[in-house]
Amino acid sequence: MPDPETPGPKAPDPGTPGPKVPGPKVYGRQASAPGDGDALVVLRGVDKHFGTLHVLRSIDLTIRRGEVVVVIGPSGSGKSTLCRAINRLETIDSGEIRIDGRPLPAEGRELARLRADVGMVFQSFNLFAHKTVLDNVTLGQIKVRKKDRKTAEERARSLLDRVGVAAQADKYPAQLSGGQQQRVAIARALAVDPKVMLFDEPTSALDPEMINEVLEVMRQLARDGMTMAVVTHEMGFARSAAHRVVFMADGRIVEETTPEEFFGNPRSARARDFLSKILHH
Ligand SMILES: Nc1ncnc2c1ncn2[C@@H]1O[C@H](COP(=O)(O)OP(=O)(O)OP(=O)(O)O)[C@@H](O)[C@H]1O
Ligand SMILES: [Mg+2]
Repeated sequence: MPDPETPGPKAPDPGTPGPKVPGPKVYGRQASAPGDGDALVVLRGVDKHFGTLHVLRSIDLTIRRGEVVVVIGPSGSGKSTLCRAINRLETIDSGEIRIDGRPLPAEGRELARLRADVGMVFQSFNLFAHKTVLDNVTLGQIKVRKKDRKTAEERARSLLDRVGVAAQADKYPAQLSGGQQQRVAIARALAVDPKVMLFDEPTSALDPEMINEVLEVMRQLARDGMTMAVVTHEMGFARSAAHRVVFMADGRIVEETTPEEFFGNPRSARARDFLSKILHH
């Protein structure tokens, strides 16, 4: 785990360097709240344009091992682009992204390995439609982690059990409900033992009665200590599971604080406006 590239334990790493961040960040939620020396995902000065549109503006963000960061903000603020950049589904124009001390590789085998370290769950479940549920959760283990089929299937079945869809193993994705499909997608991402899981609005395509079953799987993951970045409009999840809330607007991180602070005492007008809309929705 120690890596010469990782900043030493003394390096203050509040996620937003530069002009006065009000006080040190507080992580009161878990006894095992991660410390500063344990940065797993680090973005420094990340910029991204789509043509003339400046979608990520000088993003500085650190996600520590075992930390759950919820990213919220209005539509178009750059949340998905941020997630996709961390998984290098999008390139960035400038700045730096490191996963566990390593800069994101441009392409090739290194990139494939990194992608496996960063599990991603999307709004649309993105399962392989022509593969069974079991195969969906088995394939990455064989291809990326070079496991034999038997070992991979055992692990797949145990993960499917963990997310509550063991009985669906031999079905095809289209035969499952949205909530079940999304839980399979989570199992598939977990199957290759990622260091961090990114969720981009994992419940927003679901019928209301299925939202909770997916959130519960995510809550359990958080309790198990998984490092997670979650883009969501589920404020209940943010309050109960997040160590930290990151509020984005217009491609910038506008606020970055505990859920208690963010919901109880949002500092920026943008956040107050956003919260009043979403909470009175
Ligand atoms: N591939 C692309 N090409 C051009 N513009 C894009 C592309 N992807 C995103 N954008 C634009 O970049 C901006 C940020 O998009 P992004 O999807 O990151 O926002 P978001 O915060 O995830 O929004 P939402 O809440 O609606 O999902 C938007 O203005 C969007 O239209
Ligand atoms: Mg989005």
